Amino acid sequence: MHPGVLHRRFLNDLSSSLFSFVLPLLPTNEELHVKEEVRGLIEKLIKTIEPSARLLSFGSSCNSFGLRNSDMDLVVLIDDSEANIEPSHFVAMIADLLERETNFDVKPLPKARIPILKLNLKASTALPFGIACDIGIENRLAIENTRLLLTYATIDPARVRTLVLFLKVWAKRRRINSPYRGTLSSYGFTLMVLYYLVHVKQPPVLPNLQRIAPLRPMTEDQYTLEGKNVYFFDDVETLRNEWSSINFESVGELLIDFFRYFSHDFQFNNSVLSLRAGQLTKESKGWVNDIDVGGVNEMARDRNRLCIEDPFETTYNVARTVTKDGLYTIRGEFMRATRILTQRPDRAVLALAELCR
Ligand code: GTP
Ligand code: MG
Repeated sequence: MHPGVLHRRFLNDLSSSLFSFVLPLLPTNEELHVKEEVRGLIEKLIKTIEPSARLLSFGSSCNSFGLRNSDMDLVVLIDDSEANIEPSHFVAMIADLLERETNFDVKPLPKARIPILKLNLKASTALPFGIACDIGIENRLAIENTRLLLTYATIDPARVRTLVLFLKVWAKRRRINSPYRGTLSSYGFTLMVLYYLVHVKQPPVLPNLQRIAPLRPMTEDQYTLEGKNVYFFDDVETLRNEWSSINFESVGELLIDFFRYFSHDFQFNNSVLSLRAGQLTKESKGWVNDIDVGGVNEMARDRNRLCIEDPFETTYNVARTVTKDGLYTIRGEFMRATRILTQRPDRAVLALAELCR
């Protein structure tokens, strides 16, 4: 058979294998239900301390990139502006309360840079792996970046969700998804995929939501949160009706090209990935110092080996946890993935299994 036909066949096979690979890894309805009940229960308890408090989910439980048994990210928002609550104090109070009223395993970290509370719910029949849960206070930007990710996923769920979910599983299996051990958070990998679909692919698969003008003029107040511009075009209905990509590449083709781009083309030494603005230079952001202090376990603040600009906190490098060794490993994994997908063009299922081994 002609090599071109064989290659086409492999790409089709790869796309359908990606869908079947991801499907059984999605959370079950039962899991989602139990998690929502847990959130409601904790919210009720927190309201006994501060009636104006709400407990919201963010991160993968609601950006549509959640996997089965993923942890729960929760944030307490206090609506009463008169309630003068200091986050570290509040974390300690919630911890006391949950220890008394529930059988969660509770670990408050009130002295962390962003005070949080870690909870663990033991395994049960509905939740064979239990639940790990982080509760933060007043982190409103996280709610906004969760909405941004969700809106991107909604534009083209078949390709965007499949790519991100696969990349997350791959990164976990290949052990390059451990910010505490020098590699990259899931949020960082997700931003890499979106950056690629918005700025690298020509024609683009996704529009740049932060650059589409609002339907009605907005005042600065309306798009500013904690001094940051958090505007993005979020009218999903209009997007569905008026934006359609003229890029028709399959999810398999996009995956191969994603790995190839980050193996060979992206200039890690001097470039910054910005979902908001495309490729920037480290120099223009002033992200040139690379203070790689301490051991791998130490959370250095100013590492700039890999630079991923947060969509809203633009002075913040989401990939600051990535060490020199971590970046070396991540790049090695991109190369390995490219090799496997381009040199094994017979059975896609086998290639995916090998990729995630
Ligand atoms: P899994 O937990 O692995 O399923 O992925 P996740 O999508 O929940 O991602 P992750 O746990 O890495 O991050 C959860 C949420 O926290 C993200 O959606 C962001 O809202 C927020 N977040 C995580 N890391 C950062 C960061 O470095 N900077 C900022 N501003 N927000 C972050
Ligand atoms: Mg999470």
